[in-house]
Amino acid sequence: MFNSTTKIASALVGLFALAAPAFAQAPALTDLEAAGKVVFDEEIGCIECHGELAKGDVGIGPNIQGQTVEYIHLQMQTNEMMMFDATDQQLTAVEAYLAYLKANNP
Ligand code: HEC
Repeated sequence: MFNSTTKIASALVGLFALAAPAFAQAPALTDLEAAGKVVFDEEIGCIECHGELAKGDVGIGPNIQGQTVEYIHLQMQTNEMMMFDATDQQLTAVEAYLAYLKANNP
């Protein structure tokens, strides 16, 4: 009896040790957020000017975490650095990814 309780306890400690680092990390991306990351990192490459995680730390564009489709659209019409084409689908995905970054600050 004592023995199996000890085994269960140590199994739980082991499980917690495995799970603990995961709690400290941001949650997994949803499909839409993951699609937005692909647009951000590769398809349009916002990352080049706004930096990894959209924090604006490359010295070109500002921090854009949490920015919306509407505001990105406005920038694409008015901002000379942002004269690229993007589909609504791409921007909706990027918006989700930027919201994720703002919420989780990974
Ligand atoms: C070629 C460089 C470049 C690329 C690529 C780029 N941006 Fe920008 N972006 C800028 C610069 C520079 C500014 C700031 C312009 C200013 O301050 O007038 C900006 C501003 C913005 C702003 C407004 C920020 C604010 O605080 O007003 C948003 C939103 C934005 N970008 C989103 C995006 C998204 C989303 C992408 C990818 C789909 C992207 N940008 C790709 C250079 C870029």
